[in-house]
Amino acid sequence: MAERKLEALLVRYLKLLELSRDLSSTLDLNTLLGHLVHAAANLSHAEAASILLYDEPKNLLYFEATTTLDTPQMRGLVVPVDSSLAGWVLTHRSPVIISDTQSDPRHFGLIAQETNVVTTSLLGVPLITKDKVIGVLEAINKLEGAFNHDDQELLMALGSQAAVAIENARLFQQSDMIAELIHELRTPLTSLQAGATLISRPEIHKEQRSLIVDTMQNEIRRLINLTSDFLDLARMESGRSHLELNQTDIKQLLDECIVLIHGELNLKGQHLQLEIPDNIPMITVDRDKLKQVIENLLTNASKYTHKGGSITLEAKTTAHDLLIRIEDTGTGIPAEYVSHIFEKFYRVPGTENSGIGTGLGLSICKRIIDMHNGRIEVESQMGEGSSFTISIPLHNTRSQPVS
Ligand SMILES: Nc1ncnc2c1ncn2[C@@H]1O[C@H](COP(=O)(O)OP(=O)(O)OP(=O)(O)O)[C@@H](O)[C@H]1O
Ligand SMILES: [Mg+2]
Repeated sequence: MAERKLEALLVRYLKLLELSRDLSSTLDLNTLLGHLVHAAANLSHAEAASILLYDEPKNLLYFEATTTLDTPQMRGLVVPVDSSLAGWVLTHRSPVIISDTQSDPRHFGLIAQETNVVTTSLLGVPLITKDKVIGVLEAINKLEGAFNHDDQELLMALGSQAAVAIENARLFQQSDMIAELIHELRTPLTSLQAGATLISRPEIHKEQRSLIVDTMQNEIRRLINLTSDFLDLARMESGRSHLELNQTDIKQLLDECIVLIHGELNLKGQHLQLEIPDNIPMITVDRDKLKQVIENLLTNASKYTHKGGSITLEAKTTAHDLLIRIEDTGTGIPAEYVSHIFEKFYRVPGTENSGIGTGLGLSICKRIIDMHNGRIEVESQMGEGSSFTISIPLHNTRSQPVS
């Protein structure tokens, strides 16, 4: 009997070894986390597994990956450090086995309420790399019997591999993005350098001088926008930024966006048509981030529409979703380029003539809408205009903010 047990354990360790090799070769963070949670559930013979990552500045944990079908609902869900099992594992830097989760005072019951995942037993291990705790790996509901010491040892071993792999993937992601940023910085910097050289020449006329100064100021503005947009995106992509969900009055939020775009529209003599009913229900979203999305789309609509054109802002709810549509009578996007516009730094060729930009606006929008488990879609006709539609599930995540 003891021999059989030993053999079974050996098989599990071999599986772990095989998994570790797989983990160290995956540098895409999402894929990696997906593999990890499945490996954790598999190794510990559990019904499900989750990874919670630690946001140090805000001192909270949030779900980043789970094996359950409820993944979209759980992703980004925040768990307080001081009143949850995962928080206990994090602060004590030690594993925990709970056979009756519901009666343990450290269990954070809200998660079960909100996600319909009933946790009966749990095994949690800290993810530690270079003496830093970066999160918690949890196996939930042992399929047969109770979690035991062997399960804990195996999950600890997987956890230490996982922590290193997560750190590597994060670093890789950052270095990749930094390479892209540096590439993008070169154009405005070269143009600033040229401007500075020209302006220092004595034979330059006054008018020419002011033209150069204008160009330089534009480039500087571009640099400032580029760096702040880039930081926003980098924070979201590295998982250091997550949603702060609040019950939000959508009509009021749209009104605020309209006030912000008003000046731009006036300047170009563009007409804004509103189709916003009064009865939009309160919806749980990250208010500031959604506002950023709508502002970005309205700014694009104005920027890529000629003077005197018209822009429509429509909002409505269907049985399951909130829909917000921003339509313009602008230049349109050639069909062959549409699939690229959500890529980082992508601008349709020839766009420079329509106005300055970094090509990050829509990537940020898409990222934010993804975080809300929503969709963003575009329809465009050359010379006639474009229409961007956002849809966000009405009953998306939790109904109460956690902080
Ligand atoms: N409403 C629109 N009409 C026509 N083309 C558009 C529209 N919105 C976006 N585009 C095209 O998609 C590209 C990407 O848009 P995105 O908002 O990401 O970048 P941007 O507007 O160039 O710069 P910024 O980062 O300042 O927003 C734009 O450069 C433009 O070519
Ligand atoms: Mg834009």
